[in-house]
Amino acid sequence: MERLFQVAIDGPAAAGKSTVAKIAAKTLGYIYIDTGAMYRSLTYKALKTETDLNDGHLLKQLLDHTEIDLVQEGDGQKVFVDHEDVTERIRYPEVSAHVSLVSSFEEVRVEMVSRQRKMAESCSVVMDGRDIGTHVLPNAQVKIFLIASVDERAIRRFREEERKGLQPSLESLKEAIALRDKKDMEREVSPLVKAEDAIALDTTSLSIDEVVEKILQLVKEKQLS
Ligand code: CDP
Ligand code: CDP
Repeated sequence: MERLFQVAIDGPAAAGKSTVAKIAAKTLGYIYIDTGAMYRSLTYKALKTETDLNDGHLLKQLLDHTEIDLVQEGDGQKVFVDHEDVTERIRYPEVSAHVSLVSSFEEVRVEMVSRQRKMAESCSVVMDGRDIGTHVLPNAQVKIFLIASVDERAIRRFREEERKGLQPSLESLKEAIALRDKKDMEREVSPLVKAEDAIALDTTSLSIDEVVEKILQLVKEKQLS
């Protein structure tokens, strides 16, 4: 049987993880798994059902009754919660503002990680998130920790929202990103931290193509070794 290959991409908000992970997965013919979309999906459902976001046990019970599907479609990925297409809705500011709280509970994380590992059992994957290299796929052959300055990351989100026809505030985007990073780095369970064996890549002044190129190069080197 062909050896399965795992690429783990972690890093703070808006560092470019999903954009480059998607392209790298397509080029390599691997499955792309956006773990952030899974935590966002649970947050979306918890807000919709008015579940107490401070109660990890209730959130875990809710998750047990929630089907989350990541479906590859063309160059993108659609996200379904109980068969409802939530691809756009899970990116709304209200979800972004609460997702770090929802994802801080151990019970929630244990179930999410179990689902994520199952997805990677039978195929080669590029998986992105916060704890992929440290916890979800500790044996991944390639681990990358993407970073970029908070100013650059806020500008990237700003441009993204402008492209959607919105009128974002750069200052509030920057504040929201910094606050979410802080919560993700300071939580007790699987905080956002670079795995010891991950390669840090500062993308502040790199284009998407340049980052993808570097990742593909690292994969190639590992495959040949
Ligand atoms: O795309 P963006 O960087 O804004 O965030 P995301 O990858 O969609 O992740 C949203 C949130 O989910 C993060 O801020 C974390 O709180 C949580 N998350 C996590 O705890 N562990 C992961 N493996 C992925 C996301
Ligand atoms: O997944 P994550 O939150 O880390 O970031 P993303 O959603 O993939 O990327 C955020 C934005 O930055 C997107 O609009 C990308 O097109 C852009 N980007 C960029 O301008 N330059 C890069 N090297 C990587 C991403």
